Amino acid sequence: MAVPEIRRVGVVGLGAMGSGIAQLAVETGYETVGREVTEELGEKARERIAHFLGRKVEKERLTAAERDDALGRLTLTTELADLADCDLVVEAIVEELGAKLELFAELERIVRADAILATNTSALSVTEIAGAVSTPERVVGMHFFNPAPLMPLVEIVRAELSSDDAVEAAFAVGERLGKRPIRCHDTPGFVVNRVLIPLLNDCIRVLDEARVSAGDLDTAMTAGAGWPMGPCTLVDLVGIDVHVHASEALYEKIREPRMAPPARIVAMKNAGLLGRKSGRGFYTYE
Ligand code: CAA
Repeated sequence: MAVPEIRRVGVVGLGAMGSGIAQLAVETGYETVGREVTEELGEKARERIAHFLGRKVEKERLTAAERDDALGRLTLTTELADLADCDLVVEAIVEELGAKLELFAELERIVRADAILATNTSALSVTEIAGAVSTPERVVGMHFFNPAPLMPLVEIVRAELSSDDAVEAAFAVGERLGKRPIRCHDTPGFVVNRVLIPLLNDCIRVLDEARVSAGDLDTAMTAGAGWPMGPCTLVDLVGIDVHVHASEALYEKIREPRMAPPARIVAMKNAGLLGRKSGRGFYTYE
């Protein structure tokens, strides 16, 4: 399939990941249309992006004019129809297969026939998501890491029916965004989460096994294993609910006991302790 030159990028879902991806896109120079379900959520994302770009200006990594230009490239909408002119749409909505299938089916009706549809899913199957559309060759995974503006990796995921052109176009966008893209196939957890999810679950189990505090476990892994941030801080950043969901999705597919979320973290999720975003997880936040 012939793919268009990517000029206009759509991002659906402007939570932590989607707003980070939209930030990267506007900083890179793409006209960007961000879609949220309510205007309030859209504005929250704009404020978040403006905040981080503002910090870059304060640290003299960006001029005020560059920040203003970047923010000027961001259009917010609650209507999917406003994504009609996008050459690439990146989906970053809730990690529920049903919601994603519905969205992709609707996007196929809206965007041009040659537009690329990408999902930022971290644990669902890109091939299953592509099953929602009649043109699965244009569907790929673009899996960014949290926080998206800071983490260099993006996994470019080839689903069963992805075309070479769609994969290479997504790879080129990843490079243009300043990332270090890698190509991989649509296997559970792709590359990083296949390794990282069971590892983080082991860390959480060690909390109880070694009767170590969250703070000491984080010190152990930063000071003893060279991790940039400790596992408890990391799971709080990613979101306890996101981590539990990813663990369950991987366990369902791979059936290795280490993939299953430990009871402690499932209880935290059920109690609403979701990490940074809820103000409390392994740690308490202002
Ligand atoms: N968006 C944009 N900018 C951000 C940001 C965000 N979410 N968070 C922070 N920043 C900016 C801030 O402006 C910050 O500077 P100020 O505090 O001065 O405002 C600047 O980035 C630097 O932040 P830090 O000083 O905290 O930077 P650091 O050197 O400590 O590095 C880090 C931070 C890159 C996150 C590092 O700690 C790290 O690499 N941590 C590991 C993260 C990781 O493993 N992520 C993967 C999670 S797994 C995943 O995402 C997969 C999945 O599917 C769930």
